[in-house]
Amino acid sequence: MQLWFDTEEVFVGGRWQLPLSDEKLPIEDPSTGTGIGFIARGGAADIDRAVAAAEAALDGEWGRMTAAERGRLLAKLGRLVSEKIEALAQIESTDVGKPLSQARNDAIALARYLEFYGGAADKVMGETIPFNQGFTVYTLREPHGVTGHIIPWNYPMQIIGRSVGAALAMGNACVLKPAEEACLSALAFADLARQAGLPDGALNVVPGLGEEAGAALSAHPSVRHLSFTGSVGVGRMIQAAAANNIVPVTLELGGKSPQVVFDDADLDAALPFLVNAGIQNAGQTCSASSRILVQEGIYDELCSRMAAAYDGLTVGAASADLHVGPLISARQKEIVEGFLAQTDANHILSRGRIVEDAPAGGHYIAPTLISGIAPDHSLARDEIFGPVQVILPFRDEDHAVEIANGTDYGLVASCWSRDGGRQMRMAKRLKAGQVFLNNYGAAGGVELPFGGIGHSGHGREKGFEALYGFSVLKTVAAYHG
Ligand code: NAI
Ligand code: MG
Repeated sequence: MQLWFDTEEVFVGGRWQLPLSDEKLPIEDPSTGTGIGFIARGGAADIDRAVAAAEAALDGEWGRMTAAERGRLLAKLGRLVSEKIEALAQIESTDVGKPLSQARNDAIALARYLEFYGGAADKVMGETIPFNQGFTVYTLREPHGVTGHIIPWNYPMQIIGRSVGAALAMGNACVLKPAEEACLSALAFADLARQAGLPDGALNVVPGLGEEAGAALSAHPSVRHLSFTGSVGVGRMIQAAAANNIVPVTLELGGKSPQVVFDDADLDAALPFLVNAGIQNAGQTCSASSRILVQEGIYDELCSRMAAAYDGLTVGAASADLHVGPLISARQKEIVEGFLAQTDANHILSRGRIVEDAPAGGHYIAPTLISGIAPDHSLARDEIFGPVQVILPFRDEDHAVEIANGTDYGLVASCWSRDGGRQMRMAKRLKAGQVFLNNYGAAGGVELPFGGIGHSGHGREKGFEALYGFSVLKTVAAYHG
């Protein structure tokens, strides 16, 4: 792994510095379970210093920049990321345990986010509003100020792109608290931002524990917007902290996303999406498709085709670039095994295979396809966050909708059918922030607004919509007679 920064430092006010806490945390390679170094254990004092640096940036060079200048800087940062794709992929693959080609996709997505938000920065406009005689009324879109970004370990680069990328485009100054399990790509990103010439304090990165640095950031009275991706439990705490300071919050809390397959679907086209959406990143994906709903007439056929696909899945070290890598941690593996313990062998339709040379200390779980359980079984309702998919049969559209909408979540959903009317009906009836018709995930399209309903959270990131979320609308009413 090729690192060009000191992993034990925090990035604050445009400079690398040792954390005020003077403490560090060990990091490991999930493929081997062995230590690969240390990161800073940033604490409340480090968050204070980062927030102060962000405030200074808003009062200084960063706050004075035009939207076009900000856009140019983001585009330049995107180009620096593009030049470092292989190094970033290597870092993420080692730190997260992502198969190398999946890590490369994340680095490419980060560059694309920066390209998109760089181009969008000077295209966010207010409007003029027809009003009473003697008035001219218009709206301005202004930054919140200091924005706090608490992100998880599953897709650090993509989440930095969609969250920090959009916030910077709107002129906010960001304090980013990456997850303790996977900080390295965030630190690499900070250094690329420094190299791109981002003004001091526009971006600050403070690694640390959730209950320390994360809690301090979410409670900080000078932070004017919070954006969080992670678990429902912590999301609740972040929303409570935001309520305390009366600041807006964007929450992206995962899901139990269904793909609904009707008997007129093109199964050849659907099959790779059905499987891949469940096992990508070892199922540790907020928008993982962990439920496959299949119409009765094709249920047996699809079960056997999916089972055959699972037979061919291999699991091993991230560097081997197989279908599935390790889970992020021993703890995450325990969580997933706890779910699997709630069922028995009769319900396991098929499993992938952990290859023989997978390192002994890695956190591997063979992908598992489950059938024959009720839609209200925990495995079919709760987010597992591992390579586990459940197949559930349904009778007709009403029944499919009832099962699909029958969890607390609502992040994404898909419908596979050749019937255009059915596609439109399902798109309306499925409770989710994104609905895909005859595909799943739309290749991650950075242009497409993304976010959930229910326990999946609220607020939208990605696309142009994120720029509205990361800005405040001001109405100016001028009376001139
Ligand atoms: P988590 O919600 O604890 O961690 C996400 C981020 O929140 C990390 O940066 C963490 O340091 C921070 N955090 C933790 N406690 C905090 C606190 N009290 N105040 C402020 N920030 C805090 O998620 P975890 O424990 O890593 O994973 C547990 C489960 O959460 C997973 O099994 C999965 O179901 C879900 N999850 C969902 C994600 C998604 O993409 N929506 C991402 C990661 C986890
Ligand atoms: Mg946690």
